[in-house]
Amino acid sequence: MTGALFPRQAGLHPPAFTPGYKTSVLRSPQRALISFGSGPSEETGPAFGHVKLGEHDNDLLLNHARPGQSAIGERIIVHGRLLDEGGRPIPGALIEIWQANAGGRYRHKKDGYLAPLDPDFGGCGRAITAEDGSYVFRTIKPGAYPWPNGPNEWRPAHIHFSIFGHSFGQRLISQMYFEGDPLIARCPIAQTIPDKEALNRLVAALDMAETKPMDAIAYKFDIVLRGRRQTHFENRLEGM
Ligand SMILES: [Fe+2]
Repeated sequence: MTGALFPRQAGLHPPAFTPGYKTSVLRSPQRALISFGSGPSEETGPAFGHVKLGEHDNDLLLNHARPGQSAIGERIIVHGRLLDEGGRPIPGALIEIWQANAGGRYRHKKDGYLAPLDPDFGGCGRAITAEDGSYVFRTIKPGAYPWPNGPNEWRPAHIHFSIFGHSFGQRLISQMYFEGDPLIARCPIAQTIPDKEALNRLVAALDMAETKPMDAIAYKFDIVLRGRRQTHFENRLEGM
């Protein structure tokens, strides 16, 4: 796919300066941004379709587990489709995820939360989208965890997502939340999103149709990356 990217819809994304999320105060620019059109460095990017993934790369229940063991926690399936703004599937895209374990603890040297590490859970996975843009992960539902933004702040259960589309301008790093979690409405990070409908698009819905009976609960999470203007065929409009 080639062509100029649609401008980012700034109103749907959080402003850089959101004092309720304390870290944003020092991270946000102090001057007005300058806008540039996209060029080849934004409209092209790495291709991952040829990358051979390991057998359990998208299975966090097993990819860090000892032989015969499995991660502890509520077993879930997270699946969905990667689409562009025109609703077209994006195949061959790399989706990477990382998350806390069932107790809310990351396997990271800077995470000192008192919840224990699970020896059979690493917390990272990756997948490449299929021809129809679909992807699937198997994992455990992460726990909520406290963080030092205020005297008593808790992150809702969430999974971090990083997605490389077909160009660097489509790169998306975001978080997925779980339907029905009362901590979403109290989370200073989630609440930086000005549009409530946009926030709802970060909340994966319980998907009983894909639930595996006696095994794992499914959540559906479709992801939309920036679209781009299509090149017209000479004789007719194609795919618009
Ligand atoms: Fe997190």
